Amino acid sequence: MKGKFIVFEGSDGSGKTTILNNVREYLDDNNIDYVLTREPGGTKISEGIRNVLLANDKTEMSHRTEALLFAAARAQHVDEIIKPNLRKGRLVISDRYVMSSLAYQGYGRELGVDRVKAINDFAIDGIKPDYTIFFNVDPITVLDRKRKAVEADRLENEDESYHTRVYEGYQEMISQIDDRLILIDASKSIDEVTDATIKKLLEIIGG
Ligand code: TYD
Repeated sequence: MKGKFIVFEGSDGSGKTTILNNVREYLDDNNIDYVLTREPGGTKISEGIRNVLLANDKTEMSHRTEALLFAAARAQHVDEIIKPNLRKGRLVISDRYVMSSLAYQGYGRELGVDRVKAINDFAIDGIKPDYTIFFNVDPITVLDRKRKAVEADRLENEDESYHTRVYEGYQEMISQIDDRLILIDASKSIDEVTDATIKKLLEIIGG
């Protein structure tokens, strides 16, 4: 693939979405071509699946169903958005990707990383991120930020032990040496985190 595929990852409350908005503004101001997309979502079909996944009235959803729906939304996203744009040589930035499923369904839902990875290998059809930018933040800061949030969806409403497992899952994954993983300290101010993210992004697309 000619283009570059960059994924933004982090637990709920890491400030990822705010940072992404700032990054988008920077890219627009500097006439840098990119495609910004998100998971679950990014296509009409995947956004439909997203609505099923996040709706607060779907409390009976089994964990395997949840994992398969995230993977299904991802397969459509890969085929319709990510692959074609990478083929055109474009910069594709996705808000979340497979690492989210490993953390949330693998660790959070305790389905096991290997099983969740297996269904995702099928879903992504070989499309792996060139780099993953991970917004790392401690659980106390997250809790603080979440209390200020307005409305929670089905997944955010899960109990504290689920979020702790997700957090620990991410920590376990980022502790493994991987030169395609970029860690950003997201407990700092929005401005500092934005600057650090843009700096890394420019290094990636410049090189
Ligand atoms: P969203 O509102 O996009 O949250 P955020 O701004 O934190 O990215 O909701 C996405 C939710 O879905 C979030 O709680 C993480 C969860 N999720 C999974 O559980 N598995 C996945 O594979 C993905 C992509 C997201």
